[in-house]
Amino acid sequence: MKWGFRAAAAVASSAVAAVAVRDLMQRNHALLRNFPVVGHGRYLIEAIGPELRQYVVAGNNEERPFTRDQRRWVYASAKKENNYFGFGTDNDVEYTAGYPIIKHRTFGRAVPRSAPAAGYEAYVPCAKVLGAARGRAKAFRPESVVNISGMSFGSLSGRAVEALNRGAALAGCLHNTGEGALSPYHRNGGDLVLQIGTAYFGCRDEHGRFDLRRLKDLVASAPIRALEIKLSQGAKPSLGGLLPAAKVSAEIAATRGIPQGVDCVSPSRHAEFCDTDSLLDWVELLATETGLPVGIKSAVGDLEFWDELTTLMATTGRGVDFVTIDGGEGGTGAAPLIFTDTVSLPFQVGFARVYRMFAERGLHENVVFVGAGKLGLPDNAIVAFALGCDMVNVAREAMLAIGCIQAQKCHTDTCPTGVATQNRWLTRGLDPALKSVRAANYIKTLRRDLLKVAEACGVEHPGLIDTASVEILDGRTAATSLDRVYDYKPGWGLPSAADRAAIIELMTAGEPQGGSAPPSPTAMSRS
Ligand SMILES: Cc1cc2nc3c(=O)[nH]c(=O)nc-3n(C[C@H](O)[C@H](O)[C@H](O)COP(=O)(O)O)c2cc1C
Ligand code: SF4
Repeated sequence: MKWGFRAAAAVASSAVAAVAVRDLMQRNHALLRNFPVVGHGRYLIEAIGPELRQYVVAGNNEERPFTRDQRRWVYASAKKENNYFGFGTDNDVEYTAGYPIIKHRTFGRAVPRSAPAAGYEAYVPCAKVLGAARGRAKAFRPESVVNISGMSFGSLSGRAVEALNRGAALAGCLHNTGEGALSPYHRNGGDLVLQIGTAYFGCRDEHGRFDLRRLKDLVASAPIRALEIKLSQGAKPSLGGLLPAAKVSAEIAATRGIPQGVDCVSPSRHAEFCDTDSLLDWVELLATETGLPVGIKSAVGDLEFWDELTTLMATTGRGVDFVTIDGGEGGTGAAPLIFTDTVSLPFQVGFARVYRMFAERGLHENVVFVGAGKLGLPDNAIVAFALGCDMVNVAREAMLAIGCIQAQKCHTDTCPTGVATQNRWLTRGLDPALKSVRAANYIKTLRRDLLKVAEACGVEHPGLIDTASVEILDGRTAATSLDRVYDYKPGWGLPSAADRAAIIELMTAGEPQGGSAPPSPTAMSRS
């Protein structure tokens, strides 16, 4: 025993000595040269800092992108556990400028029944019919106002994509493929929005050029309900998609038609159009050839493009069926820090500017507006609906629902939860069957909470919450209503009168008011 202990001690001492010698000889790290061996502690703490902070140091509302409270809400909702919070808010409501307050109504008009129980499933379809305004052959009413945002197979593992697609089928929502092509993992029952990025993965020929015939074959082979042309993404506008070499596995290389183990960098611009006019021609071509509604996804920076787009739509009869606005606070698999932190406007400011341009030209009622950028949290989503969103897309919140712990290593292929890695050893822990149920639970809970808030505001659907129902606090003593903050005219942010009537009918068919029992005989005799 003693001999064994001595041998182990000798091996450990030699290892420490070897590390010390290497640290003293190397020239890359001054810290290690100056503090051999112990200096490694600093690198270890840096590496596990995010995990340490979130469990040990940070308060409930300190962390970004998602605070502990926000993650806790998503995790509990995904597991159908108690997602309530006790004792009252720990947000600094009184002193935080920019804090949104939703104004409930004491006596709203007739509202649908909703229930607080975690298991209650609310039917909350989109208040507009996607593609109807432009008469697309395959126009449809999306069944869910909450849908899964584009995240490619590549940035996410196959098992994560499968979990999300199966979750979309369970929750009855749409699953956007992201720009990395339609993979076998997307074919698990969920309806799809096919995203077309600058590299045209999945619909390109052997030279990397867009191939319409391949697109039509793809559309015929899968439940694709709409096409989304990706112009830019909030976290990295003007940069093409980036998949680091470590994540380009043989399977991804085959799905995308690219070499294995080499950085996969998509071009920063499309080759099929070069300006707004030719973009609209391409939109019409895709819609005519496939019959599908066609939209664009973009972050918001300079407004010249939006000015041209809305002017051309108002004057030439061509147009997009939907517009997805991605906020600068949105997520990415990998991007340079300057782009994630500083390029493109945050969601609310960017969306409101774009919506105003559509509204000023009378186009807002004919376009479905989709928002993304931390809108998978009920408070953010409600403000988005009030500003004119018809649907919200959720990306990182859906990742949290299937197990992401916000370790923020998505770009390194070392994701500890198997969500954003191609490493087989790491992905094997992610069970798509179990996690699909979690994704669906989370989406259903968010939908239900949105309906509950609509009910509190006295309307039948989140899309009917108007800008007057939200105020933004300026601090302890003042607040400004959302329409004034963003310079909205009366009626902006709402669907057309016909769409409002249709959605009210859908939401209230056969439902008793607010879930109450009938009035007592005394109340009846008073009325
Ligand atoms: C891992 C990851 C991969 C993504 N891949 C794409 C993509 O392929 N195409 C795209 O348009 N957006 C992509 N996004 C952006 C999301 O679709 C979404 O717009 C953004 O993260 C904002 O939503 P969130 O705040 O709910 O995450 C990606 C985001 C993440 C986190
Ligand atoms: S757990 Fe995985 S998916 Fe989530 S942030 Fe970390 S690396 Fe990215």
